[in-house]
Amino acid sequence: MVTLHFPIAILLTLLHQAEPRVETSVFVLKGQDVRLNVQTNVTLQYVDVLYWKFNRSDNVVKYPPKVTFERYQGRVEFSEGNLSLLLKNLQEGDSGLYDAVVSGNKDSNVAAYLIKVQVRVMPPVLTVDSNSTINDTCTCTHNKLDYMLYKLHSRPDCP
Ligand SMILES: *[C@@H]1O[C@H](CO)[C@@H](O)[C@H](O)[C@H]1NC(C)=O
Ligand SMILES: *[C@@H]1O[C@H](CO)[C@@H](O)[C@H](O)[C@H]1NC(C)=O
Ligand SMILES: *[C@@H]1O[C@H](CO)[C@@H](O)[C@H](O)[C@H]1NC(C)=O
Ligand SMILES: *[C@@H]1O[C@H](CO)[C@@H](O)[C@H](O)[C@H]1NC(C)=O
Ligand SMILES: *[C@@H]1O[C@H](CO)[C@@H](O)[C@H](O)[C@H]1NC(C)=O
Repeated sequence: MVTLHFPIAILLTLLHQAEPRVETSVFVLKGQDVRLNVQTNVTLQYVDVLYWKFNRSDNVVKYPPKVTFERYQGRVEFSEGNLSLLLKNLQEGDSGLYDAVVSGNKDSNVAAYLIKVQVRVMPPVLTVDSNSTINDTCTCTHNKLDYMLYKLHSRPDCP
């Protein structure tokens, strides 16, 4: 699981910045979890409601009272203590913008993350050994592997 922390210096700078803020890009491997923290010092007033949203339109959770919207039930966990959102078992379709908005007398953006879910790419299974016994294995049967090895070593002819 990846936890995102803003260095204190940056956090303090952000506290004095007006919104909108640039979103933080996060790359996550498919199937992993990621915790998104609010990026400012949020103190909810009694009129305030916090929303975590996806792609600006889908509501993920709101608080208070704590509600996880239907599409996200079982896939996210919201922490009331620090207002962070845990996204679990991310899939490619979960890529997009996640932001947190506090709605009170006015809306204020308190976090924005651009999540990019990546599929782990397997390295190709091809090992080249300088001591390989190509000469022995290239039997000119013209099967694909022989041909590949033959091309790879640019040998003029099969023995
Ligand atoms: C957060 O804000 C509250 C109220 O404005 C303040 O009392 C508190 O010290 C702040 N915390 C930090 C870590 O800045
Ligand atoms: C927020 O709370 C959750 C659950 O209690 C915890 O796992 C996480 O580490 C906390 N994040 C921060 C930045 O404190
Ligand atoms: C969310 O937004 C991103 C970036 O604009 C887009 O690539 C993605 O398809 C959107 N996802 C959904 C489910 O709308
Ligand atoms: C390659 O062959 C030489 C001589 O037989 C041997 O000393 C060396 O350890 C071999 N290298 C590898 C990577 O197998
Ligand atoms: C492989 O063939 C090349 C020339 O075709 C030869 O120089 C080399 O000694 C041979 N290697 C082995 C391991 O037979």
